[in-house]
This record gives sequence, C-alpha cells and structure tokens, in this order.
Amino acid sequence: MSTIESVLVENRVFVPSEAMVRNARISGMDAYHALCAEAEKDYEAFWARLARENLVWTKPFGRILDESNAPFYRWFDDGELNASANCLDKHMGTPVEHKTAVVFEADDGTVTKTSYRELLSRVGQFANALKAQGICKGDRVLIYMPMTLEGVIAMQACARIGATHSVVFGGFSAKALQERIIDAGAVAVITANYQMRGGKELPLKAIVDEGLAMGGCDSVRAVFVYQRTQSACNMVSGRDRTFSEALAGQSVECAPVAVGAEHPLFILYTSGSTGKPKGVQHSTAGYLLWAKLTMDWTFDLKPEDIFWCTADIGWITGHSYVAYGPLAAGATQIMFEGVPTFPNAGRFWQMIERHQCTIFYTAPTAIRSLIKAAEGDAKVHPDRYNLKSLRILGSVGEPINPEAWMWYYRNVGGERCPIVDTFWQTETGGHMMTPLPGATPLVPGSCTLPLPGIMAGVVDEAGHDLANGVGGILVIKRPWPSMIRTIWNDPQRFKQSYFPPEMGGKLYLAGDGAVRSADRGYFRITGRIDDVLNVSGHRLGTMEIESALVSHTKLVAEAAVVGRPDELTGEAVCAFVVLKGARPEGDAARAMAKELRDWVAKEIGPIAKPKDIRFAENLPKTRSGKIMRRLLRSIAKGEAVTQDTSTLENPAILEQLGQAY
Ligand code: WT7
Repeated sequence: MSTIESVLVENRVFVPSEAMVRNARISGMDAYHALCAEAEKDYEAFWARLARENLVWTKPFGRILDESNAPFYRWFDDGELNASANCLDKHMGTPVEHKTAVVFEADDGTVTKTSYRELLSRVGQFANALKAQGICKGDRVLIYMPMTLEGVIAMQACARIGATHSVVFGGFSAKALQERIIDAGAVAVITANYQMRGGKELPLKAIVDEGLAMGGCDSVRAVFVYQRTQSACNMVSGRDRTFSEALAGQSVECAPVAVGAEHPLFILYTSGSTGKPKGVQHSTAGYLLWAKLTMDWTFDLKPEDIFWCTADIGWITGHSYVAYGPLAAGATQIMFEGVPTFPNAGRFWQMIERHQCTIFYTAPTAIRSLIKAAEGDAKVHPDRYNLKSLRILGSVGEPINPEAWMWYYRNVGGERCPIVDTFWQTETGGHMMTPLPGATPLVPGSCTLPLPGIMAGVVDEAGHDLANGVGGILVIKRPWPSMIRTIWNDPQRFKQSYFPPEMGGKLYLAGDGAVRSADRGYFRITGRIDDVLNVSGHRLGTMEIESALVSHTKLVAEAAVVGRPDELTGEAVCAFVVLKGARPEGDAARAMAKELRDWVAKEIGPIAKPKDIRFAENLPKTRSGKIMRRLLRSIAKGEAVTQDTSTLENPAILEQLGQAY
C-alpha cells in the first residue's frame, strides 16, 4: 500500500497493493463497478444469479422480488432450502468436509478444533434432542449462552429443524430475558450453568430461573443446560435437562427440514427510539445469501484463510460472521470465549500469532482500549507479537476515528493489510458499505462505498437526494435480500420506523446521518439521528434507559438520558434525574447514583449503566412540556449552552444540571 496526498478533509488515502488486487475475488475498481452496473441494469436478475450460485436450494425459486405488499418485501419466496444444510451438509464430500470449521479458544486458553464433519454430527444430534422435546418448525427458541461452540451448535440445530431462534446476549438481565421470552413466545430456552469470562465464573442458568420466575413465561416447556463448568446449578425436574441428558441416545443424523425462503431464521432484539426493544425478524434465504457472499466479497475469503470475528453470538455480528457466514463460506474460523484483556491486553495479538489468523475483524472500542493498554505497558503492544499471518483487518459497530484507524493499520496490520470499515446494522443482516480489500482506496474513518446491489444514498427530510459534501439522512433506496422483514409482533412499528410515510414510504431509513466526500463520493457516517446510543459498539435506546430509571418508582420522579462523546467507548450514557425526595449532594449523591446504576443493570444489563448521573430539581422543558434534549446534550458534553433558554420555567436548574456531584 502507498500513501497518496489528496484534497479530502481526511487527506490520507491508501491504495491496495498490486498483489492484493491481482489475487482478489473482486479485483480492482473496474470489477467493482462492473458488479454495480450488473445490479443497475437488471436488479432482480443480479440477485437471482447470486442466490442460485451461493445457496443450495431443495426447491428452486421462480419468483425473485415480490413488492406487492411493500414494505413487507419478499425474496425468492417460492423457493425452499435449509440454512444449516447450507452451512454444513453442503460441504460433505468436498475438501471442506474434513477441514477445521472452528478453532475454539476457551477463556483459560484451552484450544479445541472441530471439523465440518464433526460439527454436522453435533448439530444433528442436538437437533434430535430438540425434536425429542417436541420442538418443531415455527417454534421460537431462546438462546442465552456463553461464547462457546455450543452456542453455535444450538443456533444451527434450531435452523436445522426450522425453529426460529432468538439469541440474547449473556450480559442482559433476567428482566430483559423475561421480556424477550414473552414477546417471542419462546417454547424453550437453551442456556449454560455458568459462563467463563476473564477468569471469572458468571451465572447464566440462575438468571434464566429468575427471568422465568418473573411470570408470563408459560410458553416455555423445556430448558436445556450446557454444563460449562463443574459448579452445580438449580434444576427444575420435568422442565430442565442438561445437554448430556438431552443428547443421550440421540442419533447424530437429523435430516434438515426444508423451509420457505422467507421462513424466519431468527429474531434478534435491538434497541430503538422507544422504551421497548424491537424483535428484528430475518428471513432464511435472503439473510444467508448475504452472510455468505459478504464473507467472500468483503473479506476476500480464500480456502486457506483463518478468519476471526471477535463478536459475541448475542449480537448480529456474531450471527452473520460467526454462526452463519463463515460456515456457509466453508471457512476455518477462530472462536474466542473470553475477553480481550485477560490474562492481559495482549490476548488478541497472542491469539492471532498462535492460530496464524489471516483475517481479523473487531470493534473500534476494542482497538481503542488496546491502544491505551499498549501505551501503558510495552509487553502488550502488538509489536511484541508476530502478526505476519494477517492479510486483512476489519472494523465494525461504530465509527472508527482516524487515529485509531492509523494505529490499527500500522501496529496490527504492519501497513500491509487493508482495513475494511464495515457499516451495517442488526436490520441489514450483513455489510452495506465497506471498502473491498482488492479494490477500494482506503480513507481512514470512511466506510467508503456501498457493496454491489446496495443502493445507498444521502437525502434531506423530504427524501430528496443531497449533493456530495452535504450532510443528511442515510437511506437505502431499493429492498435487498438480507433486509429486516418485520418487527416481530409489531408490523406497524416496522413500517413507521424504517419506511416513514413522510419520506414517501419507499426509502429504508437506517437511522444514521451521513455525508459523501466531494471528490470520491465516499460515505462517512456521522452518527445516529434518532434516540439511539452506541456505547462500546452496543446499541442502547435512551428511552429504554429512561424507562428503566423511572421504573424505580420509590425514588425517581423523572429522568432524561442522552449520550455524550467518550474517548474510549465512543459514546457514554449520561442521565439527568429528578428524585422524589430532596436533591442529594456529596456522598449522598454518590450513594444514590450507585443505587440507580445498579438498578439499571438489573433492569437491562450492566452495558446500559449510566456513566454519569446528574441530579436536579427539574428537567429543562419547553412550554409545551417537551424535554430539551439538545440542551441536555450540550450540558452533558460540558459545553456552554447556546440554545434559547428563555422558555425555561426555572433557569437556575441549568447550573444544577451542569454539576457533577
Ligand atoms: C449502528 C448499528 C454493524 C453490526 C453491529 C452493530 C453504527 C455500525 C458502523 C461503521 C459507523 C457504524 C451505526 C448503525 N455502526 N457500523 N462501520 N461506521 N457507524 O449493529 O447494534 O444494529 O448498530 O451501529 O450507527 O446504525 P447495531
């Protein structure tokens, strides 16, 4: 790669090396433009070709895109297939059969390798265990598992029998779990006794028990418990069984159940702009097509690659780039149970060296924390490790600041590896905009250009295109196969949130702002334009945290939550709270803040804990009673307030709001 000066605001540009271009699946910008042109020329034919080439169909599709009930789009809907067969069975009898599918490294460093053949057997056997409990096609199964191979097996086993899974990240609370079980109407829960993270044994089953005991979960007939550690956990007879009990006597052969292309493969809950999380529903065919194809395109996957995506299976990144994409693409992947800082902050670099990782995909927040660690301790600096195996780096989940980009590029990639800054969302199923390693000139902090077939644009509030250089609303102009199908149980909210009638009802609204560069038309994401925060790459709704705070009815009268920029976590949660009693100060305020932070952790999960809590006697409101959030955002940042405050009932509260205790 070489550096070229240009007139961009960010004026560093890194062009792919000749060798990278020569060997790439999408080789050079001409090849990229040719694919884009193919999609432009005949959109449906383009996607049909890809769906035929990349998926194995038990019944071929005839229809491509059905727009008759827009925005409830349907793709390939008269075709039939099975997702698990497309990840496992399809490799049998090929060179992939005996290839390692997963190199699993446990929290304590123990490594286990599993071939595609072995994985197929384990998935088949677990699928039979599910069937033995009467679980079948169309049922919803909630998965609350550690980041172990068994989590992937559980997901694949559901897919195999046509059950729709809903994975809940192991950091969510009992309350969050209960809400999701009820909303999804789950018939079973798959969990583990404990999870191991950073040398600590943390409960999972106890949280499931607590969630189920909160009531309303009568749909749950069976609980499967993977014994991750030796410790005992409570088991309810008749309802709960360990994995070994469930698997005993089950055959490893389980015929995959063919489902329609639109059959819901999974529901994944994510935060929106109201208090209630949305159950994002994905299809089988369209979703899997894109998970597989983006492995090939974005990561330029080769048979000999060792791929590592560090995301947990509880997030969409772990669905598309751990549980489905790498398997559908026949890759060898590394799966890691632990945390990047245990036993020390060199863990990622050590693992890259140990397993000869070639493609490494992680989040900016992890990079930033490892930069900080490496600056403080030379022993965990990447230059202490041999990272020569790497050929491609990836970034996901939040904007990557150019400084972190440059550090990643230099110190991890040795100025040799392109960084694919992948912009996408839970709702998009897979990458939307990203550089291609063997084609796209890189600009730090830019996700560059949409993938072929993705019709991205930047528009104003009326839905009209904006010129390059002008910031606006990021939209996708045509439906694409891996898009969200609906919000589970709430089709109206789906329509309203993603295809707002005010903008014509046909544009998909990502919820992000964007601007395109004047010279190249490159996209740069400017952040969420709704009430959604991104804290360490985790998506949180401000209303969700507000609801959690005010649900503490004994203490809290009113609360408003905003985000503020944070060097390490991208954004941080800042809560302004009006208590029912007197406004506390000093130690009393500190104690109260702790109590409220713990409360939020209990209601949602530790990831939602406000970093900053300010107490005031009132919240700033307009005459019509709306909380002045813009003003709160300025205060949270510690900026001078420039907004008009003449309508404030009690201007003295501004000073209170600005005071940290
Ligand atoms: C939101 C989606 C992408 C899967 C994991 C997160 C932000 C994501 C980028 C990026 C700038 C990004 C957006 C988006 N985001 N990737 N490369 N550059 N921003 O999925 O939890 O659904 O969050 O994450 O704001 O809307 P998610």
